Amino acid sequence: MTETTVRDDGALRQSGRALLVSIHGAQRALKLYPVENAAVQRALDELHASATALCAHEGGIEIRLVGDFIFINQTRLRLGLDNFAAFSGFVALMKSCGVGLLRVEDGITRWEWQAFLSILAALPTNIDPDERVEMLTQRMQEADIVRLAVGPATEGGAGASSDAGPGDEGLERAKRTYAHGVAAARDVVQGVRMGRMPSARRLKRAIQVIVDQVMDNELSITGLTTLREYDEYTFTHSVNVCIFAVALGKRLGLDRLQLYDLGLAALLHDIGKARLDPAILNKATSLEDHEWRTLQSHPWLGTLTLFKMREGEALPYRAILAAHEHHMKIDLSGYPRPVRPRRIGLFTRLVAVADGYDAATTRRVYQNVPLEADAVLKEMWMNPGRGYDPTLVKALINLLGIYPVGTCVILDTFEVAIVAGASPDPEQLHRPIVRIAVDASGGRVTPPGKIVDLSVPDADGGYPRTIVKVTAPERYGLVVGDFFI
Ligand SMILES: [Fe+2]
Ligand SMILES: [Fe+2]
Repeated sequence: MTETTVRDDGALRQSGRALLVSIHGAQRALKLYPVENAAVQRALDELHASATALCAHEGGIEIRLVGDFIFINQTRLRLGLDNFAAFSGFVALMKSCGVGLLRVEDGITRWEWQAFLSILAALPTNIDPDERVEMLTQRMQEADIVRLAVGPATEGGAGASSDAGPGDEGLERAKRTYAHGVAAARDVVQGVRMGRMPSARRLKRAIQVIVDQVMDNELSITGLTTLREYDEYTFTHSVNVCIFAVALGKRLGLDRLQLYDLGLAALLHDIGKARLDPAILNKATSLEDHEWRTLQSHPWLGTLTLFKMREGEALPYRAILAAHEHHMKIDLSGYPRPVRPRRIGLFTRLVAVADGYDAATTRRVYQNVPLEADAVLKEMWMNPGRGYDPTLVKALINLLGIYPVGTCVILDTFEVAIVAGASPDPEQLHRPIVRIAVDASGGRVTPPGKIVDLSVPDADGGYPRTIVKVTAPERYGLVVGDFFI
């Protein structure tokens, strides 16, 4: 496919997403305030502007719901974590009205949007979905809305292109799980920041879903830890550490109940940081001595927080231990310094390995260029001074491969690829499964790109493609997330 096609498709996706976000925004504003309120008017202005721009470009818009997928003019919109609320809100709204199709004609007026959303908001919810679509259509006619039309929900099929394979559904589910995890982590951290003791119950539910997902389809959820292009490091870091720790725990044979506890320990490991000054946490330059000492207080601040949280609710003791010990290193040379000899527990060692890997591979304020994943794993494995349990680092390498999911690599064919999964053969960790992102002549490929297993030899027993080196995706204008969403 040519580069032009990539751009066009991308532009439609982008303005389609903007349209859904503005429909959701206007609908929420109308729910909260009377129509003459400035917030409602502003939301309607935005909605009208984005719909008009898209209609002018496309000559009309058809938004179709197929299962949980949303198509705009046959192009499936991909769920992102930043527009997660708008997407699920839109799907829920359409489903509650029994609507599966919304057609918007060029020339639609701002008044038609306002009337349509007001009718939707006033629709009785206690009647059959079919009746609801009929009632909605009738009211729209009475109100003289002519450039908007709705149709009932259809089962699968219509409008669904090959874009929505069964694998995608698993991925969508993984994304929802991930987004819920991030939301739960945000709740806890913000609660602690405001001096509230958060509830462990909601957190436990989010963790159960993550564990179930790891048990079910490890690859899709570990792949999501590579989507780090947003500014929510604190929350995504806890969720990533939780996912890595649970996936590792599963490899070690822990049972589901143990994994729930481990997940909770991992998600809460840095909770003490919520009690520190954000200026220290987000400082872009290196820390002064006293700031460094403050930062080092987060393990015991976390311990105190979790002890309080424990009152009345069953928080596993090992979660408190992990918050306390996760920077101690296995030779006890880290912090806080233990008063007497101790052996670091398995949960803590697992959390420490997951924590070290995620922290080193993530871009943060003071770390403009994150280390490449393969270099991080090598350092964790080769340098005993880092203080990780070598057996667990080895297990992490087996889990992620030498080239973890999301790594951008150059092949000996001059193609550039993004790693999509570890080789199923443990002897072939250097030959992962990849998606081709740039072809041999340097042309960008439409994501998600062709999938190739580098460990499969050709008829002569040689390998058609081999990794030459790891590179930064930005060099080729690639966004790793595009290959997973
Ligand atoms: Fe920490
Ligand atoms: Fe951490």
